[in-house]
Amino acid sequence: MTIGIHDISAATGSLVFALADLAEHEGIDVGKYHRGIGQTEMSLTAEDEDIVTMAARAAAPIIERHGTEGLRTVIFATESGIDQSKAASVFLHRLLGLPRAVRVVEVKEACYSATAAIQFALGIVARRADERVLVIASDVARYELNSSGEATQGAGAVAMLISENPAVLEIEPVSGVWTDDVWDFWRPNDRSTALVDGRYSVQVYLESLEGAWNDYRAHGGAEFSSFARVCYHQPFTRMAVKGQQRLARIADPDGESTDIDRLADTVEYNSRIGNSYTASIYLAFLSLLDNGPDLSAERIGFFSYGSGAVGEFFGGVLVPGYKSQLRTEELQNMLAARRPIGYDEYRHRHIAYDRVGDFETADETHGDVRFAGVEQHKRLYEAR
Ligand code: HMG
Repeated sequence: MTIGIHDISAATGSLVFALADLAEHEGIDVGKYHRGIGQTEMSLTAEDEDIVTMAARAAAPIIERHGTEGLRTVIFATESGIDQSKAASVFLHRLLGLPRAVRVVEVKEACYSATAAIQFALGIVARRADERVLVIASDVARYELNSSGEATQGAGAVAMLISENPAVLEIEPVSGVWTDDVWDFWRPNDRSTALVDGRYSVQVYLESLEGAWNDYRAHGGAEFSSFARVCYHQPFTRMAVKGQQRLARIADPDGESTDIDRLADTVEYNSRIGNSYTASIYLAFLSLLDNGPDLSAERIGFFSYGSGAVGEFFGGVLVPGYKSQLRTEELQNMLAARRPIGYDEYRHRHIAYDRVGDFETADETHGDVRFAGVEQHKRLYEAR
């Protein structure tokens, strides 16, 4: 029995802010952003967008293509949740028109939890091969203005259908895992922006990569040289380069796997979207699928990281013919259609982001589902 990703689709916010603009106003060389951290733009959500609307935009094409038969579980991974009690997937369930006989839940561990959601989904399908699980990763990454993380903000969602006999990626059973209780990045309940010890977070990311890789190998995982590509969690795309260099040093010191050109196809989307937390590693994967060569039957590695901190390394094999399943043009059109905003508007929107009480939002999104506002503490969503 093979289980894995049967379909994958992504969405992002309807606004875009260029890092050249940020660098100009900060009076620094844009090379720090373009080459130093590997980012050119960040996606931002419009006033009537959030993790639910992006999730709906990402998932709708999957439901349209595959229907809802056998779909009995939706797992929503996010670290920018919109309610302390009600799962974001409950809102999504209605917006996608899913049947009542579906369990839905939200999971959290910083940027890592979508990978946990996939592992849970694999377990469900292993017990009941006729069931399919919709896994959603959706996040808005926000840091304080004038902070070290500001240039790495972003917004995006990836939806994946996990099933038996997948058409895109067969996920292999071995995983390497690693956890340590550290304060590299966190967001207390009273804040909508994250707190981060930036340089330390880079160090913990790399330690976690090494720990997860060693555990992967100890549990019978494949050799590093057998991976055609590795998709890394990309808080900024240069992080993938640091990851590849670290992994090559410990896993394949005499080989050619450090070849960082092989990362190029995995960074295309994230360099334009910014950090999308839980969605970031799966956007790296989608970027490889859409922009890379046909790698049918090749093994792909995944390193998933969430601050706090948890890491996991696993592998999968691309299913021959997977290219025919992709929606490359749709995502590229969505990226191109984002409305560019300037520095003043960007800062104004950042400050105005945290609204309290009842309010209505302006009609701005390019998607079919809107976050219409708040009434008596209830978030309202509408489909066009
Ligand atoms: P910084 O400290 O301001 O930047 O921010 P820097 O001075 O370290 O410069 C960055 C790189 O640009 C350096 O290269 C410079 O040399 C280079 P490196 O030494 O790293 O190879 N540079 C230039 N290159 C070309 N031309 C120039 C130029 N100037 C400088 N002119 C920092 C960096 C990562 C700290 C910041 O972006 C940050 O705080 N980001 C947020 C935290 C983060 O992304 N951490 C990553 C690991 S943790 C993680 O992945 C989890 C996370 O996604 C959250 C979650 O799990 O939920 C964040």
